[in-house]
Amino acid sequence: MTPGIEVELAGLRLRNPLILASGIMGNTASALVRVYRAGAGALTTKTVTKEPVEGYRNPVVVELPFGLLNAMGLPNPGVDYFLEELRAVKREVPEAPLIVSVGGNSPDEVADVASVVDVGEAVEINASCPHVSGHGVEIGSTPELIGELVRKVRESTSKPLFVKLTPMTHDIRSLGEAAVEAGADVLVAINTIRAMVIDVEAMKPVLSNKFGGLSGPAIRPVAVRAVYELSDLAPVVGVGGVETWRDALEMIMAGATAVGIGTAVYKKGLNVFEEISQGIIKYLESRGLTLKEVVGAAKS
Ligand code: SIN
Repeated sequence: MTPGIEVELAGLRLRNPLILASGIMGNTASALVRVYRAGAGALTTKTVTKEPVEGYRNPVVVELPFGLLNAMGLPNPGVDYFLEELRAVKREVPEAPLIVSVGGNSPDEVADVASVVDVGEAVEINASCPHVSGHGVEIGSTPELIGELVRKVRESTSKPLFVKLTPMTHDIRSLGEAAVEAGADVLVAINTIRAMVIDVEAMKPVLSNKFGGLSGPAIRPVAVRAVYELSDLAPVVGVGGVETWRDALEMIMAGATAVGIGTAVYKKGLNVFEEISQGIIKYLESRGLTLKEVVGAAKS
């Protein structure tokens, strides 16, 4: 019998453990619908803020041999407009679990955004963007900051709460503990790592914002380590450089319940979801294992 790879995550039922990570194709209804139809188990939107944000000027993305460096500047149309877009997703694929990523430059602002999110099955706090002043790491990089942020948002929504953590800390476990204590249901690890590349002809940083967030295979071992350290605190979504079924299983064996796919969508296209699902199924089949038996297997 073919092993099932459905998972349950904070009350959400996913047909497979592969979640579109925030920021990748998550800003229009048509793109989200395409990703679900291509085989994702759930969808995370691009981070939405209270007011529209234009984002940085180009260049905002640099392709590197080992991943991507991006600094878009959290561009989004603002929550009111964005919710209309998300209603269109729900009309097209009502069964798709939708996780709405919310951001802001203070705990109150993030909570305000979360409080009006009336579409989707869960809310994800972006507590970890590494390069937008006042946002992300600046309000989520210590246990005290993340505790206050999650507490405020927890009071503003009854939806399951995912919290995306930064790896830019000496102790991600204490961030996870503070988030869970304040009401997080799921930890998402990790966001990108603040980084820079320089154009030696122009003698200046390539990105218009100078700094960006590094994603892709370069950060996968960092993400695997973070998942390993967090996965006894709460269900974890492991994100960071997953491109193949082996990479996904690595996250799962480190203790992840589900796996975020981001940069690989750029590199391999939408087929990546189906390719990884099939690879996981074949692996389980060949070993006579269930997915549950593999979660955290490397920890015992
Ligand atoms: C961006 O929009 O610049 C990236 C968002 C993030 O890293 O959270």
